[in-house]
Amino acid sequence: MRIFITGAEGQLGKALIKELLKSRQNFEFKLMLTVLNEVSWNSLYNWMYENNLLDERAEITALDITDYYLVRAAIESFMPDTVINCVAYTAVDDCEDHEEEARLVNETGVKNLAMAVKNIGACLVHISTDYVFDGNGNIPYKEDAEINPINVYGKTKALGEKVVCENLNNYFLIRTAWLYGEGKNFVKTMLRLAENNKVLRVVSDQTGSPTSAMELARFIIYLIQTKQYGVWHGVCDGETSWYEFAKEIMRLAGRDVEVIPIKSEEYKTKAKRPHYSVLSNAKMHKETEFGIKAWTDALKEYLDLLKL
Ligand SMILES: NC(=O)c1ccc[n+]([C@@H]2O[C@H](COP(=O)([O-])OP(=O)(O)OC[C@H]3O[C@@H](n4cnc5c(N)ncnc54)[C@H](OP(=O)(O)O)[C@@H]3O)[C@@H](O)[C@H]2O)c1
Repeated sequence: MRIFITGAEGQLGKALIKELLKSRQNFEFKLMLTVLNEVSWNSLYNWMYENNLLDERAEITALDITDYYLVRAAIESFMPDTVINCVAYTAVDDCEDHEEEARLVNETGVKNLAMAVKNIGACLVHISTDYVFDGNGNIPYKEDAEINPINVYGKTKALGEKVVCENLNNYFLIRTAWLYGEGKNFVKTMLRLAENNKVLRVVSDQTGSPTSAMELARFIIYLIQTKQYGVWHGVCDGETSWYEFAKEIMRLAGRDVEVIPIKSEEYKTKAKRPHYSVLSNAKMHKETEFGIKAWTDALKEYLDLLKL
């Protein structure tokens, strides 16, 4: 299988690279890993070198997905069976002041990929978010639940979803949430704050599903070997609040820090967040043989790896 991964330097991109090149896969593949620019090229190359991941099956190239002609040329020269789009404008609060830039990446960039993929008859894996939902419910959102984003990031991601569903038949649109891997994320922020603080105040009235990028990568690798196209939810099993999540991080990391629950109003952010954005894995459990870890087990695996 020829796999073209955009945003290879992000959290999910790196998890996919590790999972594909380090774990035993029961299929043969070639990878084209694309990153935003030359600086990211060097940085991904060095990371792969340090992690013993340089491999003749993988090549790296620079590609800004907002340029249609470059996207088309890169895809037509590699001729992938599958394109996995891990690129996004992911800074949720920044999006509020940079809607145009966010749309360029989260909608136009996705359209460029969808068109290029369509031209060669390949399949597109696109990643979306729990933030396309308004969070006013109290039961996990299924794949066909109505979307109603309440912030700019969610709106631009919803536009990206539309582009994929309206232009392609062979796609996997996978919504995930509260992702942590190699990169900036909540787990690392909490551990950093715990170094200089004895007390942490964390929001307790937002509920979601913390998800390890490694578990999501495993689910994607499972799906691309099937033809079960369509919309999927891919999160670690279970639900929790940011407050409970922080408490579990401290417990597993053995940090003696008091975590105090606060309300969202006490922790003002530019972008509004949904109160309840848990994604249901019922379809994954019913229609696939893939078993995803509970969020607590995945967090333990992640923290054990960080200790190494
Ligand atoms: N992180 C979360 O909590 C979360 C939650 C739900 C869903 N998701 C979704 O999951 C997917 C993966 O997220 P992630 O956390 O792995 O993201 P990430 O770590 O922020 O990685 C995104 C990558 O995209 C690159 N990029 C940005 N604009 C680009 C462009 N125009 N052309 C090429 N590359 C570009 C970024 O490069 P630079 O860093 O150099 O800008 C970065 O390497 C995204 O679709 C995201 O929306 C994430």
